[in-house]
Amino acid sequence: MTSAKLRLGVNIDHVATVRNARGGASPDPVRAALLAQQAGADGITAHLREDRRHIVDDDIDRLISSLATPLNFEMAATDEMQRIALRHKPHAVCLVPEKREERTTEGGLEVAGQDNALARYIKPFVDTGSRVSLFIAADKRQVEAAARIGAPVIELHAGAYADAWAEERWDERDSELSKITDMAAYGHELGLEVHVGHGLTYDSVGPIAAIPQVIELNIGHFLIGEAIFRGLGPAIAEMRRCMDAARA
Ligand code: PXP
Repeated sequence: MTSAKLRLGVNIDHVATVRNARGGASPDPVRAALLAQQAGADGITAHLREDRRHIVDDDIDRLISSLATPLNFEMAATDEMQRIALRHKPHAVCLVPEKREERTTEGGLEVAGQDNALARYIKPFVDTGSRVSLFIAADKRQVEAAARIGAPVIELHAGAYADAWAEERWDERDSELSKITDMAAYGHELGLEVHVGHGLTYDSVGPIAAIPQVIELNIGHFLIGEAIFRGLGPAIAEMRRCMDAARA
C-alpha cells in the first residue's frame, strides 16, 4: 500500500510537569503548544489526569480557545473526564488506562473483556463529532475488541518497543516492532485508523514511521527533554525530519 502522510501529535504534558514542580505559571504548556504548532506539529496532545499532576483544567480551556491545530484530549474512561471532554468537544479523544501510582501510562487499555464498559464512552463522542481512539497494546484480542465496540481509531502502545531500544535489548525490540507492524496491518484491515505512541525518540521513531498503515504518532517526553538542549521548535523539526526520512 502507499503510505498516507504521517501526522505528528506533540504531547505537551511535561511542560506542565516542570511548571507544577514549582507552582505558578511558568513554563506555560499553552505557549509550548503554540510554538509546537508553529514548528509543524499536526496536532497537540494533552492528558488531563484525575490527579492533575501535569495538565490542569485551565490548560485545557486555554488550549481549546487558542489552538488552530487539532487537540487530542487524552483521558481515562471516567464520568468526570467524559463530562469535561463533552463540554469542550475537542477534535479527538484518546481513552487511556490510568493508575494513580504509575509514573506514566504503563500499559494499554483492557478492551477485550470490558466491551460494554468502554463502549458507552465511545458513542457520545462519535455523536458530538470528536474522533475517538483507544490506547491499546499491539495485541490481536485488543485490536479486535476495539473494532467490535466501534472505536474508529486505535493508538498502539510503543512503550515496550521503546524501552527495549533504550536498554539495547535488540531481540525484544525486534519482536515488539513485529507486533506493532502486524497489528497496524490487522487494525487497518478491520477498518481502523492506526496511530502509535509512547516513548519514541529520534532513534526509535524510524521503524515505526515506516509502517505504512500508521498515520499518526504522538510524542511528548523525549521532545520536551530535547527542547532543553536545542529549543522546542528545532527539537520538533528534527523529529519531523526523522519521520519523513523513514517514510520516504
Ligand atoms: N500516546 C499516549 C496515548 C500517551 O498516553 C502518551 C504519554 O502520555 C504518549 C502518546 C506520549 O508518550 P511520550 O511522552 O512517552 O512520548
